[in-house]
Amino acid sequence: MSKASVVLGCFYGDEGKGRTTDHLAQFADVSVRATGGNNAGHTIYVNGVKFAMRLIPSGILSNKTIAVISNGVVLDPKVLLGEIEMLKSHGIDVDKFLKISDKAHIIFPYHTHLDVMLENKRKNKIGTTKNGIGPAYCDKYERCGIRLEDMYKADFEENVRHLVTVKNELLEMAGEPLCDADEIVALYKGYAEALKPYMCDTVILLHKYLKEDKFVVVEGAQATLLDIDFGSYPFVTSSNPTIGGILTGTGLSARDIGDVYGAIKAYSSRVGEGPYVTELMDATGDRIRELGHEYGTVTKRPRRCGWLDLVALKYAIDINGINYINLNHLDTIGQFDIFKACVAYEVNGTVTTDFTTNEDFLKAAKPVYKEFKGGFGDISQCKTFEDLPEDARTYINFIEEYTGTMVKLIGTGADRENMIVR
Ligand code: IMO
Ligand code: MG
Repeated sequence: MSKASVVLGCFYGDEGKGRTTDHLAQFADVSVRATGGNNAGHTIYVNGVKFAMRLIPSGILSNKTIAVISNGVVLDPKVLLGEIEMLKSHGIDVDKFLKISDKAHIIFPYHTHLDVMLENKRKNKIGTTKNGIGPAYCDKYERCGIRLEDMYKADFEENVRHLVTVKNELLEMAGEPLCDADEIVALYKGYAEALKPYMCDTVILLHKYLKEDKFVVVEGAQATLLDIDFGSYPFVTSSNPTIGGILTGTGLSARDIGDVYGAIKAYSSRVGEGPYVTELMDATGDRIRELGHEYGTVTKRPRRCGWLDLVALKYAIDINGINYINLNHLDTIGQFDIFKACVAYEVNGTVTTDFTTNEDFLKAAKPVYKEFKGGFGDISQCKTFEDLPEDARTYINFIEEYTGTMVKLIGTGADRENMIVR
C-alpha cells in the first residue's frame, strides 16, 4: 500500500505549489486538490505555454494522471467548466482523468455577491479574491450549503429558491443588487448536467488507489500563513490549507501521508492585507516584483514582495511536518548582487526565532537579516546541485542547516524543465 505525497505552501501563497505537483505528476498516478476554491491560481509553463490553473490539480497537465477534486474544495461550476474547456482545447483528455467529489460544496452567485458586500463593509479589509470562498465555507459550516450530489436531488430547485430568498434578505438590507432565483436555477441545472459525468465518491476512490499502490500527490492551495487557524487571522482564507485540512478535505488518514513538500520562493510575497514582517516597501521590493513577475494569477493585483523569512518557514515546517523543501525562483534572487534572508525577529528589544501569529507580535517584529552573495548568472541549464554556482549552493546549504530540512527540488527558471531534483 502506498502513501500520498502532499505539496503545501509555506507562507502567503503563490510559492509555486503547482510546479511541484506538476513535477511529481511525472511519476504520479493521481493528483488531488483538497481545499480552497478558485481563489487559487497555480501557474505552470509547459513547452512555453502558460497554464493558470484554478480548481483542477495541475497534475492533469501530464495528460496521464488522474485529477481528483475532493470534498474539501468549494466549487464554482462556471469557473470549473471554463477550465475544463481550456484544458480540452490543449488536447488534455479531461473526460478520462477528472473526478469530482459528490461532497464538494457549490459556490452560487449569492456567495460571490456576499463576498464583495462583506469586504466593502469590513472595517479592516482582508483583500479577498471576491470569489465567494468565505461565504461558501460559511454555508458549509452553517449546514445550509449545497453539495455537488445535492444538485441531482428532487428538491434541488426548491432548496436553491429558498436560499436565494434568504440571501436576498441580507443583500436587500445592505442595499445591494439582488439575485434572480429563476436565472440561478436555470444556470445551475445546466451546470449540474455538465458536471454529472465527473462526480463520484472520491474517498472510496483515493483509498482504492492507495491499496493498489498508486502514487497519489495532493496539491495544496493557499498556504500556512493564510490558514484560518494557523495563519495571520483575520487576514486569512476560510479553510485549513495546512496538513490537517488535507486530511479532512480528502478522507485520507494521517497514516496515509508520506512525504510532505513545502513550496517556497527564494524571496517572499503576499497578496491582500495583513502583517508581513519581511515586506520591502521600497525599490528593492519593486525590483523583486518585476524580476519575479509577481502579479496575481487570479486578480492581477501586484503582490507585496520581500526577502525570504526563515523564522516563518520553520513554523510552517513544524505545523505541516514538511520533510522536503521545494525552493523556487532561485534564478530570480540570483539576479541581485547581494540579497538577504530573515534569520530572527527583534521584538521590543528581544531577539527570537519563535514565530507566532499574534498580531501585536507580528506588527512589532523587525527582521534580523543575513546577507548572501547573488550574481548567479544564467542557471537555467544547471541539471544538478553541483552545477550551481558556489554562492547559490551556499544559500541552499544555509536554508537546510537553519531548518533541518532538505531542499529537494530547486526551480531555476519558468519552464517545466528548469527544475533540479536531488
Ligand atoms: P494560491 O493557491 C495567494 C488570499 C487573498 C486574501 C485572503 C482571503 O494561488 O497560493 P479569499 O478569497 O480566500 O477569501 O481571500 O487570502 N489568498 C491567496 N493569496 N495565493 C492564493 O492561492 C490565495 N488564496 C487566497 O488574497 O488576502
Ligand atoms: Mg496563486
